[in-house]
Amino acid sequence: MANKVKTIGVLTSGGDAPGMNAAIRAVVRAAINRGIKVKGIMRGYAGLLQEEIVDMQSSSVSDIIHRGGTILYTARCMEFTTEEGQKKGAEICKKHGIDGMVVIGGDGSFRGAGKLSALGINTIGVPGTIDLDIACTEYTIGFDTAVNTAMEAIDKVRDTSTSHERCSIIEVMGRRAGYIALWCGFANGAEDILLPERYDGDEQVLINRIIENRKIGKKHHIIINAEGIGHSTSMARRIEAATGIETRATILGHMQRGGTPTCKDRVYASIMGAKAVELLAEGKSDRVVAYKNGEYTDFDIQEALAMKKDIPEDQFAISKLLTR
Ligand code: ADP
Ligand code: F6P
Repeated sequence: MANKVKTIGVLTSGGDAPGMNAAIRAVVRAAINRGIKVKGIMRGYAGLLQEEIVDMQSSSVSDIIHRGGTILYTARCMEFTTEEGQKKGAEICKKHGIDGMVVIGGDGSFRGAGKLSALGINTIGVPGTIDLDIACTEYTIGFDTAVNTAMEAIDKVRDTSTSHERCSIIEVMGRRAGYIALWCGFANGAEDILLPERYDGDEQVLINRIIENRKIGKKHHIIINAEGIGHSTSMARRIEAATGIETRATILGHMQRGGTPTCKDRVYASIMGAKAVELLAEGKSDRVVAYKNGEYTDFDIQEALAMKKDIPEDQFAISKLLTR
């Protein structure tokens, strides 16, 4: 018979993502409505180690479902990657009566969640990252908002790019993962998409395509470049020198990570937050909530972390096929 969880802690960790507030709200209210207390941990694992812990009521999460960012703040914390830091974190949880924990974040945050589970704190991960780079799930909180924000910004760059008959390199977020770049590439009808998982650095191929496209009458040439490849400004200079076509670089940056969450991010994040509480209430630990094959489900954290995800080859091929 599972021990009944009495107090759940909730934290956000790693890069923030629009929809995290909806998930926090869901955790708080799903727990309180089951008679479980909730404590908010500020600034991720860093705040846990500093004992920045606050009691949360249903009203603590009023008026946040539509807000970007995270009301709990977020951080990256080196100390928590050490065994000593993790033991300290688990002791602090025990001291505050926290016997269940919901960690909203990416793969790195889940590694920390696995450590807390191993130290006796029932812990569940909820996938929160704009990068969509968590292998066990087809949905991560914030991706939908981020790609919609980037798409709208790229539409605007496209207008001016066409008017001036220029080439535009637009850099989107994603240090190791090209999902934002791929989706924007599709949605914005980009002529080229450079993904960290695929790009071989051969600029001559790009240059040739820009020249060919100009010959067949294309007025602009949009290149979506992922942050992991970077160097958009110097790339623009080299392309302009080689093609004679005016080329500009635009780096979208952190505007992609903020802003009001889309309907999808609010709904999925709410359901995932509530599912995390459900798992804890069933006495489960060391699991990650996921969305796979059209259903909400959950995986063992270590199994989830061992899974591999790659850009679907057929999707990348289709994106290239549609550029002319
Ligand atoms: P994300 O969760 O978005 O992948 P990070 O990789 O920056 O973001 O991880 C967030 C935090 O999770 C780190 O700052 C650290 O505190 C914690 N973390 C990352 N890796 C580990 C690990 N191997 N063990 C324990 N904690 C970790
Ligand atoms: O959260 C994911 C992400 O936005 C990545 O796309 C990006 O590479 C990274 O975080 C940027 O992190 P920071 O805000 O710490 O520069």
